[in-house]
Amino acid sequence: MEWMHDTLPYRINDSWEELEPEPDVIYALLQTSYWAAHRSRETVLRSLENSLCFGLYHGETQVGFMRVVTDYTTFTWVCDVIVHPDHRGRGLGKSLMQFLVEHPAVRDTRMVLGTKDAHGLYEQYGFERLELMRRPIPAAAQ
Ligand SMILES: CC(C)(COP(=O)(O)OP(=O)(O)OC[C@H]1O[C@@H](n2cnc3c(N)ncnc32)[C@H](O)[C@@H]1OP(=O)(O)O)[C@@H](O)C(=O)NCCC(=O)NCCS
Repeated sequence: MEWMHDTLPYRINDSWEELEPEPDVIYALLQTSYWAAHRSRETVLRSLENSLCFGLYHGETQVGFMRVVTDYTTFTWVCDVIVHPDHRGRGLGKSLMQFLVEHPAVRDTRMVLGTKDAHGLYEQYGFERLELMRRPIPAAAQ
């Protein structure tokens, strides 16, 4: 499945083959985030291998990323939504979300995510605020 921008050379797809050579791009993007800057390359790679991943490309260059953890039936956790700073404010974050909520593999599942400040983005796609509980990663595994 692929989405293409009407006028600009942006594309979003779920191709693992196109994503796979790019773990360093994703790692570098996540290094700039407030939630994943501590993850090692190995952790990032393992998380990608066990997720449904979406790449945002400008021509052949990857400029954004999103992944979800899902059982493809009842539940999807949306994580690591990120657009390169040079490409923000052009509607691409919204295009990633639109791509996700229409994606046949997960569109019929309940979706959940955590965010510190981007509620206004996700509310546009039907997400509602909810109180959650979490158990942190055990210290020994960090
Ligand atoms: C959040 C992010 C993915 C948005 O991508 P983007 O391509 O710049 O966003 P868009 O141009 O599609 O616009 C985002 C929309 O959400 C809204 N929004 C609400 N909170 C926002 C926030 N914290 N950051 C960006 N947009 C936000 C914007 O106002 C805009 O809506 P509008 O067009 O109706 O005004 C991008 O800013 C990013 O990568 N930020 C750093 C990582 C991050 O915070 N990710 C989300 C963590 S859950």
